[in-house]
Amino acid sequence: MTDPSSPALENLLHEERRFPPSPEFAAQANATAVMYDEAAADRLEFWATQARELLTWSTPFTETLDWSNAPFARWFGDGRLNAAYNAVDRHVEAGHGDRVAIHFEGEPGDTRTITYADLQREVSKTANALGELGVSTGDRVAIYLPMIPEAAIAMLACARIGATHSVVFGGFSAEALHSRITDAEATLVITADGGHRRGKPSALKPAVDEALSKGDTPVKHVLVVRRTGQDVEWTEGRDVWWHDVVGAASEEHEPVAVEAEHPLFILYTSGTTGKPKGILHTTGGYLTQSAFTHKYVFDLKPESDVYWCTADVGWVTGHSYIVYGPLVNGATQVMYEGTPDTPDKGRWWDIVQKYGVTILYTAPTAIRTVMKWGEAIPNGYDLSSLRLLGSVGEPINPEAWVWYRRVIGGDRTPVVDTWWQTETGAIMISPLPGVTAAKPGSAQTPLPGISASVWDDTGAPVGPGGGGYLVLDEPWPSMLRGIWGDDERFKETYWSRFPGVYFAGDGAKYDEDGDIWLLGRVDDVMNVSGHRLSTTEIESALVSHPYVAEAAVVGASDDTTGQAVVAFVILRGDVIEAADATASEEDNAAIAAELRNHVAKEIGPIAKPRSILVVNELPKTRSGKIMRRLLRDVAENRPVGDVTTLADSSVMNLIQAGMSGGSTSED
Ligand code: WT7
Repeated sequence: MTDPSSPALENLLHEERRFPPSPEFAAQANATAVMYDEAAADRLEFWATQARELLTWSTPFTETLDWSNAPFARWFGDGRLNAAYNAVDRHVEAGHGDRVAIHFEGEPGDTRTITYADLQREVSKTANALGELGVSTGDRVAIYLPMIPEAAIAMLACARIGATHSVVFGGFSAEALHSRITDAEATLVITADGGHRRGKPSALKPAVDEALSKGDTPVKHVLVVRRTGQDVEWTEGRDVWWHDVVGAASEEHEPVAVEAEHPLFILYTSGTTGKPKGILHTTGGYLTQSAFTHKYVFDLKPESDVYWCTADVGWVTGHSYIVYGPLVNGATQVMYEGTPDTPDKGRWWDIVQKYGVTILYTAPTAIRTVMKWGEAIPNGYDLSSLRLLGSVGEPINPEAWVWYRRVIGGDRTPVVDTWWQTETGAIMISPLPGVTAAKPGSAQTPLPGISASVWDDTGAPVGPGGGGYLVLDEPWPSMLRGIWGDDERFKETYWSRFPGVYFAGDGAKYDEDGDIWLLGRVDDVMNVSGHRLSTTEIESALVSHPYVAEAAVVGASDDTTGQAVVAFVILRGDVIEAADATASEEDNAAIAAELRNHVAKEIGPIAKPRSILVVNELPKTRSGKIMRRLLRDVAENRPVGDVTTLADSSVMNLIQAGMSGGSTSED
C-alpha cells in the first residue's frame, strides 16, 4: 500500500484537472444523475427494477433481498431464470439473430464472425454435448482455454444446463489447475490443444494431462478444442474432441431455468494464505449487476456500438465484461486471442480501426506499456470510432489517464476508472459517463445502489481528506455468495475485520471533494499487471524447492506493471556448503533462474519473481513475523525505515550488503 502521507500521494489528491462530459455525450447518455437519487430513495426497489428491466425471468421474483442469514445474501431468491437464455436466445427471439455477437480475431490473423443466431446454435450443441459427457445441473466443469470463442460458448453451455463453471486462466500451471479441479470437484475439463501467443502456438493439453496424472480427481472426460493443430497425447475413453462431440450434437436444447441463487460460477483468486479461494457467484444478482454496470458505465448502445474488453476470460473481468454483461445486453464485441505486440506494436490499434471499436476497456498496465512504446504508434491508425474508454485492475496514475484520453480517446472520450474485485462480481465505484465530471486518478463515487465507505482502524468513517480502509457497508446484487466449500474462511476474510461490513482489502482515501482514491492492497496480496498474486502463495512455492530454507516475497512498485514480485530467499545449509568453495555471482544467478522457473511451474509464469535475492537473514519481529515493509524498502531502493521492532536490527545491514553482490535474476 502506498504510504498515505507520501508527498506523491498528496499531489495526487490535489488533482485539479476535470473532464466534464461534453454536451453531445451527455445528451445521448444512458446514465442520468437522477439514478443516484432513485437508488438512494429506495435501494432495493432500484435493484429490483434493474433486475426486471435487464433480465428475462421464467419465474418472476417477489422478494428482492434476504439478508437474514448475513453474510450469506439471497437476491431475487424466489425467481428463476437461465443465464444463457438471457445472454443469447432472447436476442434471437427478439429478431436480432443476425446481429454480430463476437468478431473473433485470432492472433495469426484468422477471423470468425459469430452472430447471436450462430451463438445460440453453438451453445445449444455444446450443452447437449455436455449432457452426453455425463454433466448435469449442479455439476462443476473446469474450463482451461485460450481466448477463443469456444471459451464463451463453453461457459454459456454450462450455464444453459445449470452446471457451474470454474474457468482457470490458461497461464496457470498444471499444479494450479490440479488444485482448482480438486477443490471444485470438477467432473469435466474443457481445454484446447493450445492457443496462439506471441507468434507461436503454445500448448494447453499437456498441462491438463499432467494435472490429471496427479490422480484423485473426479474428472471423467476431457473435451478438447482443436485450435493450433499440434500433436497431443490422447487418453482413450477419457479424452474427446470438441469437433466430434459438439459437432455431432443436436442444435435443439431447452435451457434449464434455475433458481436465482443457483451457482453460476466459481473463480479462484489469491488470498493472503497459500491456498487460492474459490469465489462463488450465483445467477440472478450477478447477471443483474453485470448487465446494469455494462449498460450504464460503458454507455452501451447495442445497435451501434462495437465493444472491446481486452481481458482474458480466465479473470473476472472476462466473465463479467466479455461474457455475461455484454451478451446479456445484446452487444456486438471484439474478442482477440493474442498479445498487443504481435506481429507488431500496432496490433490493438489495427483491431480498433478494422472493426470500428467504439468502447475500449483495458488495464492501466497496458496503457502504460503503450505509452512507453510512444504515441506515434497509435497515431498511425484511425481511432476516431472510439467514444468511451475504461480502465480496470489497479489504480491508474493521472498521467496515464490523461495520456489515454488524449492519445487514444482523441481528447474527446469520457474515461471511466472502474474499481471492483473478483468478489464484488461487477463494477462498484466508477464515474458515470455523461454525468460525472471525471477526475484523473480517482474512481470517484460508488455507483447508484452501491454503498462504500472509508473507515479508520477503529471502524469510524473518515471525512473528506481522510484515509483508511475501503468497506462496502450494504449488500449488493453481484456480491460473492461465499468461498467454495469454506464458509468459515468467507466470514473470517471479509466480514470479521469490521463485523457486519465487507472488508475489501484495499486502502482508500477521500479527497476534499469527497471522491474516493484507491491506494492498493493493505494485505499480503500483490497486484501485478492488474492480476492478483499472493505473497504467501509464492513463498510456499519457493520453499517447496529443495534449495530454499526460507522465503519472503514483496510487491515492489514498478513503472509499468504497477507492482512486481521480488523475492528474498535463504538457501539451505547444504546448498550453501556445496556452493561455498566456488560461490560466485554466477552461482547465485543460476540459483535465482532455477527458482524463478520453479515458481512458474508451481503457479504459472505470471507469478515469476522479477528478481530473487539470496540473503543470509530475513528481518523479523521478536514474535517471528517477517517485516515485509523493510524488504519493500530494499526492493524499491529506498532508505530502510524504522527497524526498532526487529529482533536483530543488524539484519537489514546484512541484507543490504548482500544485495550489492547483485544476486538478482531478471528477464
Ligand atoms: C483488486 C481486485 C476487478 C477486475 C480486475 C481485478 C485492484 C481493481 C481497480 C481500480 C484501483 C483497483 C484492487 C482490488 N483494483 N480495479 N480501478 N483502481 N485498484 O480483480 O484480481 O479480484 O483484484 O484489484 O486492489 O482489490 P481482482
